Amino acid sequence: MAILVDEEKRIFTLHTEHTTYQMKADRYGVLLHLYYGARVPGSMEYLVVQRDRGFSGNIYDAGEDRSYSLDTLPQEYPGSGTGDFRSSALVMRNADGSECCDLRYAGYEISRGKYALQGLPAVYASGEEAETLKITLEDAVTKVRVQLLYGVLAAEDMITRSAIITNCGSGQVVVEKAASACLDFINGDYDLISFHGRHMMERNFQRTEILHANQVIGSRRGASSSQYNPAVILAEKNATEDSGGCYGMVFVYSGNFQCEAEKDQVGNTRALMGLADAHFHYPLKEGESLTVPETILTYSGQGFGELSRRYHRCIREHIFRGKYQKQSKPILLNSWEAFYMEFTGDKIYQLAKESADLGIDMLVMDDGWFGNRFDDNRALGDWVVNEEKLGCTLGELITRINGLGVKFGIWIEPEMVNEDSDLYRAHPDWVLQIPGRKPVRSRNQLVLDFSRKEVRDYIFDQICAVLDQGNVEYVKWDMNRSLVDLYSMEHPQGKITYEYVLGVYEFAERLLKRYPEILLEGCSGGGGRFDAGMLYYSTQIWCSDNTDPIDRLRIQYGTSFFYPVSAMGSHVSAVPNHQTGRITPLHTRGVVAMSGTFGYELNPAAMSEEEREAVRKQVREYRKYEHLIRTGDYYRLTDPFADAYAAWAFVAEDGSEALLNVVLQETHANKAVGYIKLKGLKSEALYREDETGNTYYGGALMEAGIPLPDMGEYQAYQTHFSLEG
Ligand code: GLA
Repeated sequence: MAILVDEEKRIFTLHTEHTTYQMKADRYGVLLHLYYGARVPGSMEYLVVQRDRGFSGNIYDAGEDRSYSLDTLPQEYPGSGTGDFRSSALVMRNADGSECCDLRYAGYEISRGKYALQGLPAVYASGEEAETLKITLEDAVTKVRVQLLYGVLAAEDMITRSAIITNCGSGQVVVEKAASACLDFINGDYDLISFHGRHMMERNFQRTEILHANQVIGSRRGASSSQYNPAVILAEKNATEDSGGCYGMVFVYSGNFQCEAEKDQVGNTRALMGLADAHFHYPLKEGESLTVPETILTYSGQGFGELSRRYHRCIREHIFRGKYQKQSKPILLNSWEAFYMEFTGDKIYQLAKESADLGIDMLVMDDGWFGNRFDDNRALGDWVVNEEKLGCTLGELITRINGLGVKFGIWIEPEMVNEDSDLYRAHPDWVLQIPGRKPVRSRNQLVLDFSRKEVRDYIFDQICAVLDQGNVEYVKWDMNRSLVDLYSMEHPQGKITYEYVLGVYEFAERLLKRYPEILLEGCSGGGGRFDAGMLYYSTQIWCSDNTDPIDRLRIQYGTSFFYPVSAMGSHVSAVPNHQTGRITPLHTRGVVAMSGTFGYELNPAAMSEEEREAVRKQVREYRKYEHLIRTGDYYRLTDPFADAYAAWAFVAEDGSEALLNVVLQETHANKAVGYIKLKGLKSEALYREDETGNTYYGGALMEAGIPLPDMGEYQAYQTHFSLEG
């Protein structure tokens, strides 16, 4: 049993293979958080020490006990207005206008398997793999009930948390803020590791000390955003890549989020992950509920590397779904950086021909194929094939391409509309817009109100009408601006950012149901909606609009802290690179793109025969290593933000083979020999390097490292090792 309950002491213990999470409903019914960390036996109640703290109030039931204060006690789901002056997990505005929610224990339930969430993505697991604990808390006055959900995946060392808030009282209440996870640490100093960025430079690693100040990161942009990723690590001071304790919090959601971390007056640390409170006022009538999206928690006692590998496994096994969950994906050639919007059907066909010649599996026709879409100022919303531009029907084009033995994929941006479009002219009231105000434009486009079913239905039918014209085997779902003009024609105000995301999920689910064979790739100006929520629908997401392999080293490094390599859309593009102007060797571009879904985004016709031959070889190499890359354990070997050599490796779970990848980011004259230490190998086993035939003990490769060849700037070195004998 992963979930243990001591009925008498009302202690709830969640055990995974290596971790323990414990809480207790105390004598006043307050759900205290007792412990989260390495697996331990018994009760951790003794850790909670009460002291009389001036200006920290005492709940009335505590009588004259001035040492009992919610301001200092570790709590599982702190409400507000209870004398806890730290950040709350839940803020309610009650029917009488008061802002108070005093949650007390009201019961629990245990079941086999992992709970699911209505309309929201969540980790899934069978009865053998997981157990669920539901703890109910209630505010005695307003009768607001909170069901705390805990999913325990023992073998994966994962604990998921979500909360369902229900108005069981009379009159309307408003949820002003709701988190799904709160971690209160009664002891220790921590750092917060978060991943900030911008369009074309997503997920930069940042480690900051958690001080006596509330650190808040999040998104108010409507999507999870390029600016902050909805996943963080709380690291003990001594935690490094390979050692020390650290906690992960990964939000399974694609919209506005908020993560807070603060050390309080007496040295406790509180971390919260949940919905952003900005633009959020969620009214609940009698009987109505709000489900807070899930947070996936893990604790690793062996540093960030182990934490990442656990998340990779969890996402691959318990978030990914459908045909491509465990299957190799086609190598694709995308038309965007080859032609942008300037193409014809013949040019697309030529690209497909090149693909066939180079051994590439699929041709993706990116933006520009519909309506009057000759530039990015018009036609979004008009999902009608421009046959004049293509010179044929879509069906004919696909048939010709398939005739070459090449699969076909297509780009869409269903949530958006341009003012210059037939759709906007017919339905100007379908966009997010505040009555009486002009909307904010971005890329000259507006956002359709995807919280409205009629809007989704219309777009869905339009898109299906396109997909039904031929054998479409891949769809790239883009989303190229943020949400600004938050107003709903249909729902009470304050719900729209949440309902919008639910609309996106409903649309995605419907698309997958209707086209279960299609490979869906998420995208939002590259990696602006790269989160565990979208990965539930699309097993890959375009990692960044930046295809420069040197910048990608950092982007993919940051992404790797939570998300598996098999989810990272990554392509070889032309030089000079279109985003940075940098010139890098084709080999380097290949090595970096291989640590992702692998594909191309260039016009091979512009390459020399020598380069084309190199591409053929690259494609063959990738196929050789694809299984190892997709299913192997991922090891970060250096830090590309700090080290000249960016290095990482894939190691088969059983240690039988490894693929080492190194790129030199900057060079100097007469430099020292570089050495890279591998990880994850079998220490006593002998490994043979394919290229040289040299053999090395795993222990030697890990403890002393391997000398690198003399590499020039931006050059890559990729080498494969197999167990000898
Ligand atoms: C976004 C995507 C690109 C490309 C363009 C098309 O920027 O991230 O890959 O599809 O849109 O407009």
